[in-house]
Amino acid sequence: MALSKKLAKIIGIGSYLPSKVLSNTDLEKKVDTSDEWITSRTGIKERRIADDDEFTSDLGYSAAIKAIQDANISNSDIDCIIVATLTPDYIFPSTACLIQNKLNIPDIAAFDLQAACSGYLYALSTAKSFVESGLYKNVLVIASEKLSSIVNYKDRTTCILFGDGATASVVSLEGEGLEIKGASLGADGKEANLLILTGGGSRHPTSEETLKNEMHYLKMAGNEVFKHAVRRMENASKNCLKLVGMKETDISYLIPHQANLRIIDAIAKRFRHLSEDRVYKEVVRKYGNTSASSVGIALDELKKSKKIKKGENILLTAFGAGLTWGAVILTQK
Ligand code: ACO
Repeated sequence: MALSKKLAKIIGIGSYLPSKVLSNTDLEKKVDTSDEWITSRTGIKERRIADDDEFTSDLGYSAAIKAIQDANISNSDIDCIIVATLTPDYIFPSTACLIQNKLNIPDIAAFDLQAACSGYLYALSTAKSFVESGLYKNVLVIASEKLSSIVNYKDRTTCILFGDGATASVVSLEGEGLEIKGASLGADGKEANLLILTGGGSRHPTSEETLKNEMHYLKMAGNEVFKHAVRRMENASKNCLKLVGMKETDISYLIPHQANLRIIDAIAKRFRHLSEDRVYKEVVRKYGNTSASSVGIALDELKKSKKIKKGENILLTAFGAGLTWGAVILTQK
C-alpha cells in the first residue's frame, strides 16, 4: 500500500429526513412546555420522526442512494461502508451490514462506528485515512439516527431536543468535490455519565428492573453538556486550523453540530468575520438535534444551495456523548 499525495474528497453527498413533522406546538400537548421556551432556549421549531416501521438502516439506505447518485458512480463502485450511529437497528449485527445488503454490494467491508453526535466527523476522518492509504477506493460514510426510539416523550428536558434523520457521503481520491484538508478528533471518557443510555448493554442487560427505571431512554445533564460543547468545539476548531496551517479568517463557512442555537452562536463568536448567512443554523431549527447526522445534513444543504465557490474553506465541528468531539476542514475544489 502506497501513501497517496492526493487528499481524499467528498465526491457525493445526500440526506434523508422522514416526512412526519413533530412541531413545538405538538410537544405542548405531550409535556409541560411551550413553543416560546423551546425556541428561546434552543432555536428548534420542529423535528422529523420516523414511522414505526422505518428504522435507522432504512433512513441510512435512502441517504446512501442519493449520495451514490450525486457522486455519479454505481453501488458496485463502493468498497467499504462505515455507519456512524448511536441508534443502530440492533446491538448486533451492525447497521452497516444491513445497509450493505439493501444496496446489494456483497462481500465489501462494512462496520458501525460509535462516537455519538461526533460520529459523522469520526467516520469522515476514518474514510479519509482509508482512501489515502490505498486500502479502499470509494468509502460510503453514513450517519443515521432514529433518536425517537430512545427518547422519553414524558421528559420535557430531552424530548424537545431530538429528531430523526440520515446523511451519506462518498469519500474518494478521484473525482470533483470537497477536499478533506485535515481533521482533529478528541474524547473524554471521564464525563461519560453526562449523556448516557444505561440499559440494554452488558452492564445492565434489559430486565424488568431496567424497564421500570426507564434505563432504555437517553439521559442528559443539559447544563453541563452545554458548557463542554462550546469549549470542546472551539478547541477542536482551533486545533484543526493549526493542523492544516489556516487562520480563522481563511474559513468561508462554519457548520457546528446542530444541537442548540445558543451553542452555535457561542462558537460563531470566534469567527467574527463570518456574516450570519455563513454560519449554518437552519438544520437545528427545522430538524432539531439529529446527533451523528446533523453536520452532514447541514453540509448537504449548503452544497446544494450552490453558494460555495471554488477555493472556499468550510469548517465542520461536532460534539457529543462520550464525551467526543471533532473538527474537519474542507476545501471546495
Ligand atoms: N419546557 C419548559 N421548561 C423546561 C423545559 C421545557 N422543555 N426543559 C427544562 N425546563 C425548565 C427546567 O425544569 C428548569 O426549571 P427550574 O429552573 O424551575 O428548575 C428551567 O427550565 C431551566 O432549565 P435548564 O436545564 O437550566 O435550561 P437550559 O437553559 O440549560 O436549557 C438545554 C436546557 C436546552 C437542554 C441546554 O442545556 C442544552 O442545549 N444543552 C446541550 C445539549 C447538547 O448540546 N447536546 C449535544 C450532544 S447530544 C448527543 O450527543 C446525542
